[in-house]
Amino acid sequence: MNILVIHGPNLHLLGRRKPEIYRKATLAQLNSAINKHAASLGVKVRIFQSNCEGGIIDLLTANAPWAGALVINPAAYTHYSYAIRDAIEALGIPAVEVHLSDISKREPFRKISVIKPVCRAQFKGEGQLSYFKALDLCASMKK
Ligand code: DQA
Repeated sequence: MNILVIHGPNLHLLGRRKPEIYRKATLAQLNSAINKHAASLGVKVRIFQSNCEGGIIDLLTANAPWAGALVINPAAYTHYSYAIRDAIEALGIPAVEVHLSDISKREPFRKISVIKPVCRAQFKGEGQLSYFKALDLCASMKK
């Protein structure tokens, strides 16, 4: 199984961005944990971060032929990007949405995910464990 992992905008700031909400790990540390977890599951991962809506859509399009599944933290795009929602739906890759924080317990605008309807599951509020659970689910899917 090949799994594409995409981190959305501002996640390059992990480590110094609101650690009380997003925890202390940097993006490099999170990616290293994702790589280790993927290796333990025997799956291959490609990991990208983009601050741009179009950049995320281009990454999805370019890597869709390789990917058996997608793990995506769309970050703020979660709450309003119909363009990313449509790309996930159009490319037809089984997708899992993840969030470090629990978006259901934060500001009202964060409670809405326009991405969730095109995903198999949403894992939130558990820091890097949210990503691990998404990888576990993807690894259990048949390619
Ligand atoms: C986030 C939650 C979003 O609301 C926020 O805009 C982010 C990160 C999370 O991982 O908790 O950038 O997706």
